[in-house]
Amino acid sequence: MTIPASAIPAAPQDNDVLAATHPSAETLAFLALRRSTKVIHLTAPAPSGDQLDALLRIASRVPDHGKLGPWRFVIIEGEARARAGEALAGVAPDAPSAEAARNTFTRAPLCVMVVSTAAPHAKIPEWEQQLATGAACFALLLGADAMGYGGCWLTGWPCYDARARASLGLAEQERIAGFIHLGTPTEAPTERVRANWAERVSRF
Ligand SMILES: Cc1cc2nc3c(=O)[nH]c(=O)nc-3n(C[C@H](O)[C@H](O)[C@H](O)COP(=O)(O)O)c2cc1C
Repeated sequence: MTIPASAIPAAPQDNDVLAATHPSAETLAFLALRRSTKVIHLTAPAPSGDQLDALLRIASRVPDHGKLGPWRFVIIEGEARARAGEALAGVAPDAPSAEAARNTFTRAPLCVMVVSTAAPHAKIPEWEQQLATGAACFALLLGADAMGYGGCWLTGWPCYDARARASLGLAEQERIAGFIHLGTPTEAPTERVRANWAERVSRF
């Protein structure tokens, strides 16, 4: 069962008064227990049409210094998955990488390539623009999970290769924040080792 887009509140208008907080035990349980789904465990259906629109709207609703929206989303689905994989294979450094590249997007039914469009700005450092884009990636994963889909945030060599980025249509200064693969989980995940949060806390 997935949640229809119609169940999600419409986008508020500028200066609408919103709830100051959203106490929700359900949301806390979700955050405490959520997991990504391995890309090989993602099958059809993926969010499509108005569900995908709603998820991208949710993903765009992240803290964003300067309201720059320094990202864009490229949807790779259907036959475009093989086409995008072939584009990567064409610039792969060796034969094994080319073979793997061909399957980059066909493993799951849909991929949202989240592109950082961060650029020098008089007031907002590029680092902050990139952080906002990372937040958009996670909001997309969270939204998909809450809608009833699984997702996985992957990168790989194409993200760090200028020719590979160009083959996927990125401009020279753009970067790939992640390939967010989405679909329906075929298996329940098991827990993975977590960073020990308590060891990472100090008081100033
Ligand atoms: C920016 C970024 C890139 C990632 N790239 C990969 C990757 O290429 N391959 C991989 O196995 N996991 C990658 N991961 C890790 C997975 O997305 C994910 O963290 C892991 O499967 C466990 O996810 P969970 O803690 O949400 O369950 C990446 C994570 C991030 C944040």
